[in-house]
Amino acid sequence: MDDFEANQEQEKVYIFDTTLRDAEQTPGAALGIEEKLEIAKHLAKLNVDVIEAGFPISSPGDFDAVQRIANEVEGPEICGLSRVVEKDITAAWKAIEDAPRARIHTFVGTSPIHMGRITRTTPEDTLRMAVDAVAYAKSLCTKHPDATVEFSPMDAGRTEPAFLYKIVEATIAAGATVVNIPETVGWTVPAEFGNLIAGIRKHVPNIDDAIISIHCHNDLGLAVANSLEAIQQGARQVECTINGLGERAGNTSLEEVVMAIRTRRDYFKGYYTDINAKEIVPISRRVSRTMGIAVQPNKAIVGANAFAHSSGIHQDGIIKSRVTFEIIDPKEIGWKESQLILSPRSGRNALKHRLSELGYEVPPEQLDKVYERFLKVADKKKAVHDADLEAIMSDEIRAVPSVFELDYIQVVSGTKISPTTTVGVKTEDGVVENASTGDGPVDAAFKAIGQIVNIQLNLIDYQIRSVTEGEDAIGEVSLKVQDNGHIITGTGASTDIIEASAKAYIHAVNKLIQLRTER
Ligand code: KIV
Ligand code: ZN
Repeated sequence: MDDFEANQEQEKVYIFDTTLRDAEQTPGAALGIEEKLEIAKHLAKLNVDVIEAGFPISSPGDFDAVQRIANEVEGPEICGLSRVVEKDITAAWKAIEDAPRARIHTFVGTSPIHMGRITRTTPEDTLRMAVDAVAYAKSLCTKHPDATVEFSPMDAGRTEPAFLYKIVEATIAAGATVVNIPETVGWTVPAEFGNLIAGIRKHVPNIDDAIISIHCHNDLGLAVANSLEAIQQGARQVECTINGLGERAGNTSLEEVVMAIRTRRDYFKGYYTDINAKEIVPISRRVSRTMGIAVQPNKAIVGANAFAHSSGIHQDGIIKSRVTFEIIDPKEIGWKESQLILSPRSGRNALKHRLSELGYEVPPEQLDKVYERFLKVADKKKAVHDADLEAIMSDEIRAVPSVFELDYIQVVSGTKISPTTTVGVKTEDGVVENASTGDGPVDAAFKAIGQIVNIQLNLIDYQIRSVTEGEDAIGEVSLKVQDNGHIITGTGASTDIIEASAKAYIHAVNKLIQLRTER
């Protein structure tokens, strides 16, 4: 313990992660069950206090995902979301009841706009529905003494304060031990939101029987600032997401709020979280890859430029002393210096060891496949960076079942001929070959694959980026397709961008097949 810690009264701020619920609602971010499970296990490594694993009534797939996470993920409390409706609460409870620590989170809109236009209920009816829901949730928890009931008055930022105090008091009396104050539409500014929290502490007589939580959206770019001000005013749980993903402009970014508390603990009066900071960068990358949503380069804490110094004065300062222009040591949050560690001569063990340092435990039955792929990349690139290994892993070890797999691809293209791409795709009937022409070789590949898998994808976005620098870099393709109002993301990686594109297309097809069966 340092002098600062020794002189301060420490108070914990609980971290409630809603990446698998609120962020998963982001268009294109839909995940399959295995993908959710993988992220949940990584959230447990990050040591969040609560994982909001989904909204069990919303679909059979969501129910199964929440149940699997409740049964298989150890450490954090597992939470299921529900409206203030009996069948929702029953489904949420069934999904989480086997978790060692379980939480039902029930919500209803309490602003005049939400009561008038969504539930079409009076304040009195809304209050009764909320109290009945909390009491019902509490009654289900009787066989699970550690289970928690959390209540959220949705759109609290635009709710009449007097009504907010009343509903918070009534739901605590009915058994809620966490009251979450959602800034659903990102309307308030920090001083205003802080006053709201201070008002709740002042005007709700039984407030000490519950933890005050906050859940801020980022429509005005103020989610983190609002959350931090709310903590100063007494909130002790922050609802947040990895990379700040979430509905519209997103939610409070977990990494920003955690690192603000940690870095400025002189200002935040000794508050702390139990987050394992070294996992921040690895989980940011994992979520970005799995959801297919790139992190903006200038994003605080986890953006590619967050610790890049380009001006001469800054570079000179950093060389003299890191603290001249860096307020966080990048190693503290899991940034690893890029290392040229592996080459075509590296053996299986060296690969396995490095992957394990990067957080990937490769089962023995998959190591051969990963090693084979590594050798192909190493032969072309000679030096394999960590970023290459991460691209290989996300390409080879898919959480989505491979109904189809790319076997080979050949391209004939030029300025005076119509590009033709031939693909061989592994199917349950063996390898099927097909060729097609197109506007370019990538378009031709997509057409050829579409005819084999017999699914025509409606492509709405296509992006390619280089994983590392240099002509021989691995290219990573991320594309989005639309299916029945749902947006699905596919990714693929290769030193050949046409092959990477074909893989991304097939990944999207496999994901679509999986999501259709889970819906
Ligand atoms: O933004 C919101 O109000 C929510 C609630 C369900 C807590 O996500
Ligand atoms: Zn939300």
